[in-house]
Amino acid sequence: MASADSADCLPVFDLTSVVGKAPDEYDAQDEELCRGIAECLHKTGCLIVRDPRVPNYMNEHFLDLLERYFEQPADRKMADCRPALDYQVGVTPCGTEVPRCLVDPQLQDQLRRLQPPNRPTLPTGADLKWRYFWRVGPRPPATAFPELNAEPVVPTGFPDWAPTMDAWGSALLGAAQAVAGLLGRGLGLPERQLQDVMSHGPHLLAPTASDLDCNGRLGAVLAGYHYDLNLLTVHGRSRFPGLFVWLRDGRRVPVRIPEGCLLMQAGKQLEWLTAGHIMAGFHEVVVVEPTLAAVERARAAGRSTWRISSTVFTHAASDTLLAPLGPFATAPGAAAYPPTRAGEQVQRELEAICLRKQENHAPPSAAAAAASGTAAPSPSAKGGSMSNSGSAGSGSSSGLGSGLGGVAAGLGGSSATGVAIGGR
Ligand SMILES: [Fe+2]
Repeated sequence: MASADSADCLPVFDLTSVVGKAPDEYDAQDEELCRGIAECLHKTGCLIVRDPRVPNYMNEHFLDLLERYFEQPADRKMADCRPALDYQVGVTPCGTEVPRCLVDPQLQDQLRRLQPPNRPTLPTGADLKWRYFWRVGPRPPATAFPELNAEPVVPTGFPDWAPTMDAWGSALLGAAQAVAGLLGRGLGLPERQLQDVMSHGPHLLAPTASDLDCNGRLGAVLAGYHYDLNLLTVHGRSRFPGLFVWLRDGRRVPVRIPEGCLLMQAGKQLEWLTAGHIMAGFHEVVVVEPTLAAVERARAAGRSTWRISSTVFTHAASDTLLAPLGPFATAPGAAAYPPTRAGEQVQRELEAICLRKQENHAPPSAAAAAASGTAAPSPSAKGGSMSNSGSAGSGSSSGLGSGLGGVAAGLGGSSATGVAIGGR
């Protein structure tokens, strides 16, 4: 018998009754929806919602576009790479982002405590996935974190890029903003407090892309076990299975999203704002039998075998102070979440997962000296990377290889990790 998946384990919260309604118009059923969302995120870190404003055809257009983009040769895509901006806009090549579990001793301890079948697939190096970051929503008029709020990169040869990305990104962001409002109410926070934290945040439409022609082997780790550093992550449906999430009770469940629904998962910033009442959830993307079966079906139908994820990272505004809100400020354990500007928390996470490099942010004189080396790295010859999938905290590399059987041996050179380069 197949193991339970996310659609078996998690209820669907339908937002239809509250769309277009002010909170003071909520009836008893709407209030129950708010409490249910808060309870589900507290107990599991995950949420499945149906938002009638998010049509499936928009996701299909988005997936079609991203498949066409990633089918291009690697050198064409590398023109859209911005390592000097910590990869926060444009493309991030495969082999760049390092899964947090390779570099975080605390995470390694946690991972060892998990028993099969809940144990993650141990990665041996940087992720095999590519990614594209596309800003969604208005940027702040002024910010101390310009690289997190940079101008978008529009790839050449895709005239429908901006409208397609904006439409899907805005739809997913709108669903997350609605959930933030309901969640805040369910948690007993002041009206709009969570939505205000998100206002002008560096939200990203962040599809990952994995070439299953190159990497379609059982157990290949497309994205290693990690939590997301942002506030709330939204997943639309992908055309290939392989995403697994961990519920707070430690269960590892394959993700299946019912038609017309979205899966959301708490990130580190939501954990911070609630002092751990809601914990950041973990996930990984690995090639499993159902992935390979989907690849065979795609090949037979002449469709792309690039696995595109339909993902939005919603964020707290970079210049906002992250600190436990309302009743969570005095909760036991609140001291573990000291007041920190969200932009600084993001930078620390990005450094830990190799997407941010200190030399990119050196004082002007040092930066000028290094400028000759700022060309985009080739996917086959780069070291670290950054992604939104990190974790705050102890990002030192002191734990590399310690006790994980040399798991981290591939860090520092993706060519040693078996990373397949995108050309087909
Ligand atoms: Fe992630």
